[in-house]
Order: sequence, then C-alpha cells, then structure tokens
Amino acid sequence: MKDKDLPYGTEREKLVIRGGAPLNGVLTAQGAKNAALPIMAASLLLKGKRLTIDRVPDLHDIHTMADLLSHLGVKVEFRDHRMTLDVPEEIGWETPPSLVRKMRASSLVLGPLIARCGRAVLPLPGGCAIGSRPIDFHIRGLSKMGTNFELVQGAFHGRSSGLKPARIYFDFPSVGATENLMMAASLVEGETILENAAREPEVVNLAHALRAMGVFIEGEGSGTIRIKGARELGDARVSVIPDRIEASTYLLAGVITKGKVTVRDVVPEHIDSLCSKLEEAGVEIEVRDDAVTVYPSQYRSVSLKTLPYPGFPTDLQPQMMATMCLANGTSVIHESVFESRFLHVSEFKRMGARIDLQGNTAIVAGVNKLFGAEVHATDLRAGAALVLMGLAAEDETVVCDLEHIWRGYEGIVEKLRALGGKVIVTKED
Ligand code: UD1
Repeated sequence: MKDKDLPYGTEREKLVIRGGAPLNGVLTAQGAKNAALPIMAASLLLKGKRLTIDRVPDLHDIHTMADLLSHLGVKVEFRDHRMTLDVPEEIGWETPPSLVRKMRASSLVLGPLIARCGRAVLPLPGGCAIGSRPIDFHIRGLSKMGTNFELVQGAFHGRSSGLKPARIYFDFPSVGATENLMMAASLVEGETILENAAREPEVVNLAHALRAMGVFIEGEGSGTIRIKGARELGDARVSVIPDRIEASTYLLAGVITKGKVTVRDVVPEHIDSLCSKLEEAGVEIEVRDDAVTVYPSQYRSVSLKTLPYPGFPTDLQPQMMATMCLANGTSVIHESVFESRFLHVSEFKRMGARIDLQGNTAIVAGVNKLFGAEVHATDLRAGAALVLMGLAAEDETVVCDLEHIWRGYEGIVEKLRALGGKVIVTKED
C-alpha cells in the first residue's frame, strides 16, 4: 500500500482553519489505531493461517505496519476498514530501517518474530519528539524468556533456541512492552506471568485477539496477566475497539468552541478520566451506553496529571491543555508518562496562550481569546491540539506539518466540516 492510495499525505499541505464558531453535530468514532497496530503484529504468530480484523482505521501508521508485515511475507488486504492477513508457513525476520524509523510501533513485531522464527533484526528505534522512548523493558523481558540480544550497527539482533515461560515484572506499566511480551508468550507452552502490566483497553483488545487464535490468557485489564501459549495457533477474526483518543479529541472540539457534540460508538468507560475532568470543569456532559455528548458550557480550569490507564491519558494531554487555555482560572498540568511532551507549548503561545513551563509541569493561565497564527504540529496529538486551538481562535490559523495528524485521525477534515468547522487543506506552491 502506498501513500498515493491515501486521501492526504504530502508534507507540503497545510490546514487552514477559520475559527470562532461553535461546532455542533454527531460523529462516529474510528477504530483505535493503537489497538489495531499490535493486533496486526500478532498475525506474525500464525503459520499458514488467516487473521481478519474489522474496524481498522485507514491511517498512515496502519499502512506503515501493513508495509512492514508485507515485507516479512504476510499477504495483506485492506478494504472498507476490514483487513485480512494471510500468513505463509515461512516468514522473514529482518525489519527494514526505513519502515522502523517511520513508526516506533514497528517494535511490536519483535516479540512475535522471536517467538515464531527464533530470531529477529530490529533497527534501534530512534528518539522522537515526545522523548527518548527506549525499548529496554521489551528487551529485558524477551531476554528473560531466553533470547540473546546483540546490538550490531545500530540494530538489535535477537536469537533464541526456544523461548521458555517466565515471570516478568515491568518497572513501569509500558503498553508496548506488555503487548510484545504477551505476543511472545503466545507460542510458548507453560505459563508466562506479566506483573505491573499495562491495563489500557488496547492491551485488552490484543488479549481478545490472542484468545481468538487459541491462546489461554487471563487477567488482561489488571496489573497481572497470565498467558499459556500453544505451539500452533489458528485462524481468527477480531474487531478493533473504538478510538478513545480520537473520540475525546472531538468532544474537546465541542467543549473548546462551546458547541454541542455527540460522539457515538465509544465505550464511555474508556474515557472516564476525561468525562470526570470535564464535569469537574463545569462542562455539561451526558453519557449513554455507547455515546457521549458535551453541551455548550462556560467552563473553569482544572488541574491534572497524566498517568497509565485508567489515569488521564498522555495522548490527550495536549488537547486538554488547548482546552484549558480558554478556561476560567489557572490549570496545573503534570506530564508523568513521557519526559518531554510539551513541545506544543511554544506553538500555543504564538496563538496567545499564557503558559509557564516548569520541568514536566505546565501552568496554564486561562485567557479570553486566542488568535490565529501559523503553527507547526510537532507530533500527532500536538497537531490535534493545534487544530482545537485554531477552531476556537478568532481569525485564521494555519497548521503545518500535517503528516503527523494524518497518522492518527482518519477523515479529520470531513469530520470537522460535518460539525460545521471551517477547515480546508491547501497545498504549498
Ligand atoms: C503507547 C502508545 C502511545 C502512548 C503510550 C502511553 C501505541 C502504538 N502507542 O506507546 O500513543 O502515548 O503508549 O500511553 O500504542 N519506557 C521505557 N522503556 C521501555 C518502554 C517504555 O522506559 O522499554 C517508558 C517510555 O519512555 C515512556 C513510558 O515508559 O516514558 C511509557 O511508554 P509505553 O507505555 O511503552 O508507550 P508506547 O507503548 O511506546
């Protein structure tokens, strides 16, 4: 699959937003990118079998993972949000630097490849805009299961003559490390126990997929996950959960523009931390079985700290900070998951935000108005936050470096327009 098949995608595009009007309407959440990616990687555990995944969002990161799996020999078909992955008896185990550098989630193939092929080569994922993001927990866990790693010319070379079950404790409940180890343990007979595991809904979704393939797995969604693998796994079909970060971003678009926005097909429990914070801020909010509505409200500042699930998600911190820029009062936002996830602050300030940074804490003094400016998306969620700022600002905002936004928000322009947002994509001369 190539970029030309995608609706947007050149680095020279800009998003022009004429802000200041409330957004109103009803949207449906896309499937969760961060759930689809590990489930796609899990296909590598199969041998001569097929994995079918429903509700896969059509996003750049999904295409990058599809390219990576194709490179390893998997036959990938993707149409109308349904993906089928046919995995041959023999697959490759060497991942190309060009794809791994494009997306850090490429490291999710490490566990499945070691389990399936007894070896893997993964170029060292570099640093990125939100911090150094090492993969030492992944490496340590796989080593404990019986993999020897060497770092050769900037790539991890892993070899194992047969993984064995292990008890693995994570120093921090890393989402990616939990997923990688769950997948590795899926082809290992005997019980592997993951302690201080990540509890994110995306981890639970992966557990459902592995169970559908024939793995015995329990405890997903808690801090202790037990996995009893099998030598051979079978055909499986699984559906991706709704994207809690995308859904939350559109709800915040309603809040920041003081409109009425409903997002359907969400799991309200997955966005509980956001809903609680919005209620605390005085936003009128209605939660039904699978839909959440925010109503036009004057809201006040609230303080928060990002934490692993069920805490407030770091992936929503920039969008919530954008919302707090226009709140009544002062908000203290502490980022505790990533070391440098405040690059958006300097862009926010161009638009009239008043933010004081002290290490990993941002003190946001609410202002009455934001002003349009030309701003740069420094990463995916920072880009989404700048779009929110632009929708609320008085005049025209131009958001550059859109390739970050296309990584995570399918049809964002159409969705915002459907809510009455005045947004267009322009190409540079
Ligand atoms: C996933 C999400 C990302 C989200 C993050 C935290 C995907 C594809 N991406 O990223 O959008 O922001 O969870 O919710 O699902 N760490 C280490 N060593 C490791 C692994 C992690 O020190 O081996 C640290 C990281 O640097 C970071 C923290 O642990 O400070 C959390 O990272 P982790 O949960 O692993 O995030 P990802 O899985 O990379």
